[in-house]
Amino acid sequence: MVCDFHSHALPKIDDGAKNLDMSIEMLKKSKEQGVTDVILTPHCYPYSQRDITDFLVKRKHAYDMLNTISDIPNLHMGCELHLTGDVTKYFNIKELCMENTNYLLLEMPTTPWNDNTIEFTYKLTLMGITPVIAHDERNFHQKQELRNLLYDLDVLIQINAPSLSIHSMRKEVDKMLKLGMGHVIGSDMHNLTSRKPCFDTAQKQIKKRYGEDCWNYFMTNAEKILNDEKISYRDFKSFKKKSLL
Ligand SMILES: [Fe+2]
Repeated sequence: MVCDFHSHALPKIDDGAKNLDMSIEMLKKSKEQGVTDVILTPHCYPYSQRDITDFLVKRKHAYDMLNTISDIPNLHMGCELHLTGDVTKYFNIKELCMENTNYLLLEMPTTPWNDNTIEFTYKLTLMGITPVIAHDERNFHQKQELRNLLYDLDVLIQINAPSLSIHSMRKEVDKMLKLGMGHVIGSDMHNLTSRKPCFDTAQKQIKKRYGEDCWNYFMTNAEKILNDEKISYRDFKSFKKKSLL
């Protein structure tokens, strides 16, 4: 399995694919690049609605449009939930997990974190949900002390493939992988131009910089997550930078 763990390929639901044609093109490109499975992770901002039911209805409608399309990777429903506060208050929060699993892609606040940020994440874990922190390399500006507290929780970390093409982000990814704090990879594709399918490049970059084992580790973890298998702390592996790109 080659799994893109983070994508905005569902049509007309967020700032990703603008229409069905763009969705299909993004997914076909992904398939050409060797991707077998794509997790669809549209943005969910629960503060903008009374509950998340509206989002779930829109998401299903968008997904149904893609249902009959052939020659695209296998699709898995998910979302990218913005941690805007105590999201455990929403009665149907578990429906935001990746389909048939207890794993939830969680986008952390870009504003400074505080104790509440960690507490709200912890409360999700108490519900049996395992948060997968989206593109954690972007959280480099947050207090390290709070990031360490986050890592102490039962969470996994998703890295964005395009970060490997940005010098400063690449350094962050180096640090995270050395600590064993990187578990899955996603394109975070939004369109066909500025934030496009990039798994062919990502695969080459990861294998060259961290080794083939690292790529296989990301793909195996994604498969385990989709099967709702547990990835425990003792399974975490660290990878060191091999050479400069
Ligand atoms: Fe995203």
